[in-house]
Amino acid sequence: MSQRMITAIAAVAALAGMAMTQASAQDVKVGVILPFTGVGAEFAQQIERGAQLYLKLNADQVKPYTFTMIKRDSKAPNGAEAKIAAQELLTQDKVDVLAGWVYSPDAIASAPVVNAGKKLAVIMNAGTSFITNLSPYYVRTSFTLWHPSYALGEAAAKTLHAKTAVVAYTDYPPGKDSLDGFKTAFEANGGRVIDAIPAGGPGAVPDFTPFFQRAKDEKPDVLFVFVPAGDHATAVVKTYSALGMAAAGIKLIGPGDIVQDIKLQGMGDAAIGLITMHHYNADLGNAQNKKFVAAWKKDYGADATPDFTSVGGYDGMAAIVHAAQATKGKMDGDEAVKSLLGWKFDSPQGPIMIDPETRDIIMNEYLSEVVKGPDGKLHEKPLAVVNSVKDQCKVLALGPCAPKK
Ligand code: PHB
Repeated sequence: MSQRMITAIAAVAALAGMAMTQASAQDVKVGVILPFTGVGAEFAQQIERGAQLYLKLNADQVKPYTFTMIKRDSKAPNGAEAKIAAQELLTQDKVDVLAGWVYSPDAIASAPVVNAGKKLAVIMNAGTSFITNLSPYYVRTSFTLWHPSYALGEAAAKTLHAKTAVVAYTDYPPGKDSLDGFKTAFEANGGRVIDAIPAGGPGAVPDFTPFFQRAKDEKPDVLFVFVPAGDHATAVVKTYSALGMAAAGIKLIGPGDIVQDIKLQGMGDAAIGLITMHHYNADLGNAQNKKFVAAWKKDYGADATPDFTSVGGYDGMAAIVHAAQATKGKMDGDEAVKSLLGWKFDSPQGPIMIDPETRDIIMNEYLSEVVKGPDGKLHEKPLAVVNSVKDQCKVLALGPCAPKK
């Protein structure tokens, strides 16, 4: 064989090889539904950054697939835009998987569309317990409000030795879950919820003064507050401080939403002493989190920080990548969901698992206190850990949390 022919054959073989690589390097289209504008815009950014950082830091796990995010703005947290977004992403963009949902009403309104579309749908934030019962295609990598609220109900009675509590909550589904979760555990452990105060909605930050003044007048040991993080959380801490509630002997406690990492430094000394229960804060000392926080600061700036919403995006993207690998890129909805039942992952929040029975997450909950560090910044000091926490609303099969017959 002439040298020329050998070169020609080699060239054809190289081209064939390239074609094969191209055929197997498949792109997975991820339809992302997040509030890119409006009250939840910071969450959208945090979640998207978390998801992108997963892809960047775990290139070996991702190969040979690529993931393209097609983004839709869910705007105000009332479900209307999110439902349309889900419909468009499935029917026009023909995405392989849906992801996102910061606000519960958005995930609730999208459920019939998710059912019809028959594609895996990964909830990266929305925390009302019963949402995963609305569609067999929903898998949640974030949390439910039952996870921290039930655990904190127990800790408030047993560790903080509180006897009475007032609960103030943003008046929509996750707020009601938060109240129910806290009250169930607190009262089972000898505490008493003496008042439950609906305190505005998620769409706009209310003036918390009348709600907290009512709580102050009732002189509870603790004021348990759930708000959907963000500017709501900043306003909670400001009002608690302005009303002199700490000096009146009333401790502010709640799920970690009230001390979201991106808001913590802006709260100032008023936040010192707050006690929260949550699955994530940026101060967690495990190896995965140290790597995650360092990479975050390197990419997004020294003052930037991940928070619980970012880790929902990071873990959610890890779940999507797992499903892509398990289905060899096909992303058939039923197969993709099946591949995630019992899926375990070493997350920046610690070990997590998707409960094979409920498609909801099982994770650790950390009891923490806000302290000022030697660097002059506010930090979360770990007080205790509750391992492998399941959503008790589903364990107890309460109301819409009970499995569908
Ligand atoms: C929700 O709407 O489910 C939600 C939003 C923000 C949070 C927690 C829950 O911080």
